[in-house]
Amino acid sequence: MQKIVVANWKMNPLSAKEAKRIFAGTKEAVAKVKDVEVVVCPPVVFLSELARERQSVRVALGVQDLSHEVHGAYTGQVSAPMVSGYKSKWAIVGHSERRALGETNDIVAEKVARAIANGIAPIVCVGESERNDEGAHYLFVQAQLAVVFSALKRKDVEKLTIAYEPVWAIGKSATEAIQIPELYEMVLYIRKLLIEHSGRRYADHVRILYGGSVKPENAAELVRGGGLDGLLVGSASLEPKAFGAIVESVSDMPKKASAKARSGRHLDV
Ligand code: PGA
Repeated sequence: MQKIVVANWKMNPLSAKEAKRIFAGTKEAVAKVKDVEVVVCPPVVFLSELARERQSVRVALGVQDLSHEVHGAYTGQVSAPMVSGYKSKWAIVGHSERRALGETNDIVAEKVARAIANGIAPIVCVGESERNDEGAHYLFVQAQLAVVFSALKRKDVEKLTIAYEPVWAIGKSATEAIQIPELYEMVLYIRKLLIEHSGRRYADHVRILYGGSVKPENAAELVRGGGLDGLLVGSASLEPKAFGAIVESVSDMPKKASAKARSGRHLDV
């Protein structure tokens, strides 16, 4: 599966001018990486402006949330048909910062179903706020996913992207991100839940990402050690250079280049 890195700008930056600068910098920073899909999720107010900018085949636009309804009396909300008009085919759904504002598993599940019904690919965030030795975090994630699965037809599960984001690891430094063995186990567990629910035929298409203090210095290790299909990046996605470095480290291209170098005359370089 092609790897994917998603930029969640959250409630940043403060102006359209700055948003355009970051977007342009991001496109430039990832231009050379041909084997990783990139999705940028700005605040929705900047979407139309960024959709008018020169688009890059490598960088898609997405939104950070989506209403569970299509239109009507839902003050402050934005729906799937509204955003798809702005070249946005992706939506982060169920981010912990939205769940903290009262979004329940049922609402998240409705949003996911609504996104899929309207041709938007949902990036579903799950993750516990704390861990304990009894492994309650597994049950917590299982419960979050079970509600989403129950709202979908079996075959629609393949349209999901799942971002495992332990709440305790969000917004910290690289050293406070999750440990690799813990990540690897949770990724295996999520994959098992997917297979149990939908069978390999659909489950194998689902990309599993990690988010929470992803930085250039830990991105490669998280992806390779965690057996991930990509990353969801918050604060580091506002710095095009750092974000570009993260995308590059997820790519398999440098590995191929070094294999070539090994077999070629630059052996000792
Ligand atoms: P962070 O945010 O990279 O700043 O930790 C990740 C997220 O909340 O999606």
